[in-house]
Amino acid sequence: MMKFFSLPSLFFLLAIQATVAQDVKINKRVDSLMKLMTLEEKVGQLNQYSGSVVTGPVNDAKTNMLNDIKQGKVGSMLNVRGVKDTREIQAVALQSRLKIPLLFSLDVIHGYKTIFPVPLAEAASWDLDAIKSAAHIAAKEAAASGIHWTFAPMVDVGRDPRWGRVMEGAGEDTYLGSKIATARVKGFQGEQLGGLDAIMACAKHFAAYGAAIAGRDYNAVDLSNQQLWETYLPPFKAAADAGVATFMNSFNTINGIPATGNSYLQRNILKGKWNFGGFVVSDWGSIAEMVPWGFAENQKDAALKAITAGSDMDMESLAYKNNLVKLVNEGAVPIALVDDALKRILYQKFLLGLFDDPYKFSNLAREKKVMADVKHPQIAREVAEKSIVLLKNNGQLLPLTRDTKNIVVIGPLAHSRKDMEGGWIVASDTTKVTSLYEGLVAKAGKNVKFTYVEGCGINGMSTAGFASAVAAAKSADLVIMALGESAEMTGEAKSRTDIHLPGVQEDLFVAVKATGKPVVSVLMAGRPMIFNKVADQSDAIVYAWLLGEQAGHAIANVLYGDYNPSGKLPSTFPRSVGQIPLSYQTYNTGRPVTDPKDIRYKSGYIDELNSPRYAFGYGLSYTTFNYTNLKSSATTITLTPESTVQLSFTLTNTGKYAGAEVVQLYIRDLVSSVVRPVKELKDFQKVMLKAGESTTITFTIDKDKLSYFNQDLHWVAEPGAFSLMIGSASDDIRLSATLNLTQ
Ligand code: GLC
Repeated sequence: MMKFFSLPSLFFLLAIQATVAQDVKINKRVDSLMKLMTLEEKVGQLNQYSGSVVTGPVNDAKTNMLNDIKQGKVGSMLNVRGVKDTREIQAVALQSRLKIPLLFSLDVIHGYKTIFPVPLAEAASWDLDAIKSAAHIAAKEAAASGIHWTFAPMVDVGRDPRWGRVMEGAGEDTYLGSKIATARVKGFQGEQLGGLDAIMACAKHFAAYGAAIAGRDYNAVDLSNQQLWETYLPPFKAAADAGVATFMNSFNTINGIPATGNSYLQRNILKGKWNFGGFVVSDWGSIAEMVPWGFAENQKDAALKAITAGSDMDMESLAYKNNLVKLVNEGAVPIALVDDALKRILYQKFLLGLFDDPYKFSNLAREKKVMADVKHPQIAREVAEKSIVLLKNNGQLLPLTRDTKNIVVIGPLAHSRKDMEGGWIVASDTTKVTSLYEGLVAKAGKNVKFTYVEGCGINGMSTAGFASAVAAAKSADLVIMALGESAEMTGEAKSRTDIHLPGVQEDLFVAVKATGKPVVSVLMAGRPMIFNKVADQSDAIVYAWLLGEQAGHAIANVLYGDYNPSGKLPSTFPRSVGQIPLSYQTYNTGRPVTDPKDIRYKSGYIDELNSPRYAFGYGLSYTTFNYTNLKSSATTITLTPESTVQLSFTLTNTGKYAGAEVVQLYIRDLVSSVVRPVKELKDFQKVMLKAGESTTITFTIDKDKLSYFNQDLHWVAEPGAFSLMIGSASDDIRLSATLNLTQ
């Protein structure tokens, strides 16, 4: 009897068929081109140069860049942007013998012209659709400006807030980080590369860069293979599964082997086990940096080790340009390795359509039109609002009303525009940024008198401004303090040994608070900071990260209740630097502290609590939510893949404001052949409810959610008991159940 396909599966089959046909066609074109290429031209495609704006140590060995491009010795450029400049340089590449077009790449990390919140802030929204839409807008604007490829998303799990690059990632959690990696790749690349609103994404920095010893950038990483597989690799695997076109390797070593020379990482795992078909670009100069690492004797040895380990393109170290031809001619490097790297790179150029139209992404009229799209700033504001985390709200001081007529806005970040943009801004217009003070005046300035007083510098030690700040506070009804880090203090090569509020900002807060006026503290930074006096003494606190060009409007909308804050912390906030590294995925140990007052012969500190200042997943709302009526479809499941449990409960908005809650599912394997953390995030849902509204939430638990990498690095679920926990934060479990897994 004829089997009728459902319409969706028919479309799915047709889509698969089209992709396979395209793949065959492109591979044919790649093979034909490669047959024409000399060894020099092949090596040229593996070489990437930076334009005049540098994002790493300047390589003065680069003498005549345009001449090299004309001779086909360059395959890609980074840090060249805009239709005018990309057209000019592409025209030079098309003078080469085979007219192979360049790939133009750029660090479009949280927006191109429209600047969104820094990635860690976006992660605090736990809103995958919002995160995806931010990446899509960034792609549209970059693609309209001649850019083919962004060096994003950065998917490094970051559990050490001393490391400045935690700003660029999705926080400390592997599961949340994996979901966000998928959302960002899909946002940048769309469903299919080649369209005018899609650019190649790049999963970076492969791998475990976030585990740099002592949180010091570019430092070594020492960790077990089990930790590598369990904590740091999954977001990369998620990016690969989402179809990311490229990977970028990392500056660090992993157990003594530099990532860029690490065959286990790039060949066994990425191109082998994961069957990755895209290409790997080294991070800036990382190939040649294997010499100072003491892993390569000289640049030539570094080139040999890198190409052997699967680094396909050399960013800015010139190691490939200067040595690969010799290495192949000497027989030290099989031409097959060069051909494999070349094939991966050319495939992407054909896929983007650059051989059919090298200027496809460089159209002045489109560039102008896309940059003027008014929807982009609107969406940037929405994403910023969703990223804000309400940490404290004593006596429901927030949301503010217009009855509060006289407000002073104090602090070095209160009226700053450039710091709101954070790091890695590529084409922004700082004059378009709204400071907190400007956002407040725009929101309520007609009815409320706002006064701005800086009070002190971000980093300076001068207290000369305190008196005027205190005087202004005394004559106000309420104080809003904007405190935190500058944009210069976050991102690459910005590690800090002390993550307290910089300078004398906390002293300024204490002086102002001593006036007795109600104080709303707005904390701004690209990392978790320590601010215990502010945390203890403020009446209300919002963590506003570095929210991009719409910062002022978004914070004002939250403070005045036009947006009910829904953010949750994607990272643990320690009480002191001495607790670092500190994650909610802690181990029980053999001597757990049950009573913080009794740590004798227990795993605690004599001078600090074990608990964080603010926990992973924590964030308040102007309303409240009740979790009731937990039901489990079974208390026992078997090891078969189709055996699942439905865990459902009722969520009710019990307050007077509509609001969104991020409900979180944590699981603990109570007894296992390798000890497990006391909890691991395994699912979440962000749910919007009207005041008084209830809904049923269901989580499906399958074998995969109960699995982990055992001592042999096999992904296994072991029979036994599991604790299932549903909470509003990792330290605020509302409902729990036990599940038994049997053979
Ligand atoms: C930098 C960064 C990397 C960036 C690259 C190009 O050193 O480590 O994240 O994409 O160089 O700017």
